[in-house]
Amino acid sequence: MDNRPIGFFDSGLGGLTCASYLMQALPLERIIYFGDTARTPYGSKALSTIRNFSFEISDFLAGENVKAIVIACNTVSSTCLEDLRKRHPHIPIIGVISPAAHYVAENCTEDDHIGIIGTKVTIQSDAYRTKILSYNPTLNLYETPCPAFVPLIEEGIIQNEIMDLTIRYYLDHFISYNRINTLVLGCTHYPLIRQNITKLYPDLNIVDPSEVVLSGIQKTLEQTDSFAEESTGENIFYASDLSENFMMMINRILQIRGFTVSFKNFDLEGKKNEL
Ligand code: DGL
Repeated sequence: MDNRPIGFFDSGLGGLTCASYLMQALPLERIIYFGDTARTPYGSKALSTIRNFSFEISDFLAGENVKAIVIACNTVSSTCLEDLRKRHPHIPIIGVISPAAHYVAENCTEDDHIGIIGTKVTIQSDAYRTKILSYNPTLNLYETPCPAFVPLIEEGIIQNEIMDLTIRYYLDHFISYNRINTLVLGCTHYPLIRQNITKLYPDLNIVDPSEVVLSGIQKTLEQTDSFAEESTGENIFYASDLSENFMMMINRILQIRGFTVSFKNFDLEGKKNEL
């Protein structure tokens, strides 16, 4: 039993999709969420920059005495997971790629045409391809980056024709040419446009790693015997730029009825000196 909070982080809003699945499934667990809204998006940045940002945030979460850290970001999970594990050897660190790759390998066959979409960095890393094929080398994988999705989602441009056109720009040809029947949403922001995608391509099977990672988190809590036994405080949502939009989106995504949530700004420059 361990009533300490679980840390989640992402470049912005995307990781809320992972956090919301956990909040629904394990309501006694307390969450400290960090959205790096001042520096989003991560997915087109240099690896060294992404690594430095994630070190900074994981150090902050470690200082908050979290019992585990969920990298609620495919871009960071695909590039910095091992570095983060080395930096915090005493904290279980859970990435989103392995649980999803495992799920795909177990649930798809060689008849499937599996599309993987993500940020430029995630797709260039080949992390999904490498992991999925290590579990099941017979699968057919096709990948494409969709870099404009995250900035639009962060702006709240979701259920409208600008987003639909952007989706069609990236996916129409990709899906028809490769005869994709299964689509992996390899960025934690993308479940927020899942409805648009299913409206445009109703026959696609969608795999959502943000949902699948829940089983990875549960497994870790089980192995370390650290499920919370009682609810001991509020869920805290930090942002490096605490905008109205961030708070509005959190309320919208988490449908927070029943959860106690508080928001805090995290001044990166000021705080840096304390780390
Ligand atoms: N939500 C993140 C991911 O899963 C980050 C996207 C970004 O900042 O570009 O990759």
